[in-house]
Amino acid sequence: MRRYQIAAIPADGIGPEVIAAGHQALEAVQRREADLEFDLTYFDWGSDYYKSHGMMMPEDGLAQLKAFDAIFFGAVGAPDVPDHVTLWGLRLPICQGFDQYANVRPTKIIPGVNSPLHGVSVGDLDWVIVRENSEGEYSGHGGRAHRGMPEEVGTEVAIFTRVGVTRIMRYAFRLAQSRPRKLLTVVTKSNAQRHGMVMWDEIAAEVAQEFPDVTWDKMLVDAMTVRMVKNPRSLDTIVATNLHADILSDLAGALAGSLGVAPTANIDPERRFPSMFEPIHGSAFDITGKGIANPVATFWTASQMLDHLGETGAAARLMRAVEKVCEDGVLTPDVGGNATTQDVTDAVCEAIRSENI
Ligand code: IPM
Ligand code: MG
Repeated sequence: MRRYQIAAIPADGIGPEVIAAGHQALEAVQRREADLEFDLTYFDWGSDYYKSHGMMMPEDGLAQLKAFDAIFFGAVGAPDVPDHVTLWGLRLPICQGFDQYANVRPTKIIPGVNSPLHGVSVGDLDWVIVRENSEGEYSGHGGRAHRGMPEEVGTEVAIFTRVGVTRIMRYAFRLAQSRPRKLLTVVTKSNAQRHGMVMWDEIAAEVAQEFPDVTWDKMLVDAMTVRMVKNPRSLDTIVATNLHADILSDLAGALAGSLGVAPTANIDPERRFPSMFEPIHGSAFDITGKGIANPVATFWTASQMLDHLGETGAAARLMRAVEKVCEDGVLTPDVGGNATTQDVTDAVCEAIRSENI
């Protein structure tokens, strides 16, 4: 029996709705595979917890999570708690505390979901963005002085280390090598940012030597946005800094049809700690409680989780089920349908159960 202990943190907004959907899909997968079991333990951390405890998770939160095989995360963010509090109180401490330095964001056009790009359909846009997830512009270095005075100053320091850049480059080259096209684009801004970003480029070139079979090129981040829109077929695997990849992945999600389908995996490639899997879309308070949140991103990230756990067959089966259901037109309103979260979930569970896929 392969039994996995999963920590579920649904948190805010539509997080609980999509995690509930994901849980049902995992149960369907478990019923379909022999000798596979998921044990989900729920944590009530998030903005409501913050309002009653003054913190987003308990002081020993990371210690509580450490023994799990993976973390299944919903979304954080509430209209009445500042965003930097929710982010730095829960998600970033987990990413940084567990050294989940590789943030992997696959984007492709799912059958049945339309890209806003003219003439671009299934197969034309199939990317994986590797986001550096431990340093860069999100290192938390900086400060404020002379608050409220005319001479007030605020700094936000981007940190790039040789260790941090080398490991994310290796991860990205290895991932590119594992994909059929063996193609990597390194995103940079070394024309304007002449210290950290120049080092980033140099290390990319060094690491490239270890991967002679991977074709790679370098793009300035501004030009990259144009290339993503004008020539999506020219891209495959993409590596970028924490902030650059944050921005590019939203663009990627939009070009693939909806952020509602975009997943992300926060990976500790060395497996010292549990990795964390979440939909990209965030808490979406405008549709919270309406039962229409798109669960596809959560199913997709659950599939990434299965892959990471070594359950590659189950991961592929879950994705095939999701693609079939979308192709059949069982879609939530954000992607042009009128199905509810539960309709899509039921259809995916049924597709997992059915023999044909
Ligand atoms: C993401 C999100 C977060 C980020 C927000 C919620 C701070 O946009 O995962 O892309 O910027 O990392
Ligand atoms: Mg983002």
